[in-house]
Amino acid sequence: MAVRVGVLGAGFIGRIHALNLRQDPRVEIVGIADAVPQAAGRLAAEVGARPLGSLEALLDAAPDAVYVTTPNTYHVEPVLAALASGAHVFSEKPMATSLEGAWRIRDAASRSRGVYQIGFNRRFAPVYRFARRLIDEGRLAPLAAQLKHNRGELRQPAWTSDPGVTGGYLYETPVHLFDMSRFLLGDVAEIQGWARRSVYAEPDGFVMLLRFRSGVIASLTSVAHASWLFPSERLEIYGEHRAVVTEEMERASFSPGARDAAEVIDCAAMPFEQKWGYAAEDRLFIDAVLGERPPAVTAEDGYRATELVEACARAARTQQRVTLPLPEPQGER
Ligand SMILES: NC(=O)c1ccc[n+]([C@@H]2O[C@H](COP(=O)([O-])OP(=O)(O)OC[C@H]3O[C@@H](n4cnc5c(N)ncnc54)[C@H](O)[C@@H]3O)[C@@H](O)[C@H]2O)c1
Repeated sequence: MAVRVGVLGAGFIGRIHALNLRQDPRVEIVGIADAVPQAAGRLAAEVGARPLGSLEALLDAAPDAVYVTTPNTYHVEPVLAALASGAHVFSEKPMATSLEGAWRIRDAASRSRGVYQIGFNRRFAPVYRFARRLIDEGRLAPLAAQLKHNRGELRQPAWTSDPGVTGGYLYETPVHLFDMSRFLLGDVAEIQGWARRSVYAEPDGFVMLLRFRSGVIASLTSVAHASWLFPSERLEIYGEHRAVVTEEMERASFSPGARDAAEVIDCAAMPFEQKWGYAAEDRLFIDAVLGERPPAVTAEDGYRATELVEACARAARTQQRVTLPLPEPQGER
């Protein structure tokens, strides 16, 4: 029997997921809901589903799984409602825009019979899998790193410049980088650094220093007004006379020695939804819904990325070094 999926939020990323799901023979898309009826109608027509006006209407259709693909500050309530209904949930990043919100979701997910998966798609992008494999296979033992994830502007979509909707720039873009740093280098022990507000109505440039529990040290830069000059996203991880460098989701290079030829993977020609990891994360979510494997990115991963955002904001605001983990909020059950 098909997994019956509903989508809440028929914008850019809701469409990418719906198009992936439509190609999965294990899935039936039962409804597309959006606060804007025309948006729901357009995507519903494209994927052959029913357009709906609200989360309540979507839950009335009794979906097995719900995709929450609304803007950032509209994730927590629908995720909690969908989990409470017994549905499996795929939520776009960020998990929440406060540690308390993330705590509530992690708590609800741990008690739900549904699976919760967070949309850190980069974990499935071939360039980042390449880097992770080098580390897992012991070909690269990270010692230090330089991590960068910029945005060209905060204009598209328009709400990305409104911290009331994003939860702040750190929740919009660098949250991916925080998850990537955990994925490749493990948990962070302490963070310090600076931010400045230059172009937008909030801190929009961060230069931070991270020390990981493993002893790895790293610098992290994220600027919201950098222009889209390639590569807006670049990680460099250094070992003993070895290094891996990634350039967006396009290319990664590994130097196995100071005098050796580099190994390069070039993903430029791959379809966008594979290159960026979206196709794999959707397939793995349906695997998890069917009980074939645990969720590929967990509520714990979502919580830890939220914690890093909060620690980074606090370090920049107070000019104090912040140690992790942060005290857990006392959520209400
Ligand atoms: N993982 C990624 O690479 C990635 C990429 C893009 C966006 N995102 C995330 O996905 C989410 C959506 O981003 P987007 O670019 O698709 O935005 P978007 O503006 O293109 O689409 C959002 C849609 O949600 C609808 N909406 C807004 N509030 C709603 C509500 N309360 N209830 C129902 N519908 C509502 C809007 O009408 C719109 O159709 C954001 O959280 C964003 O951070 C993730």
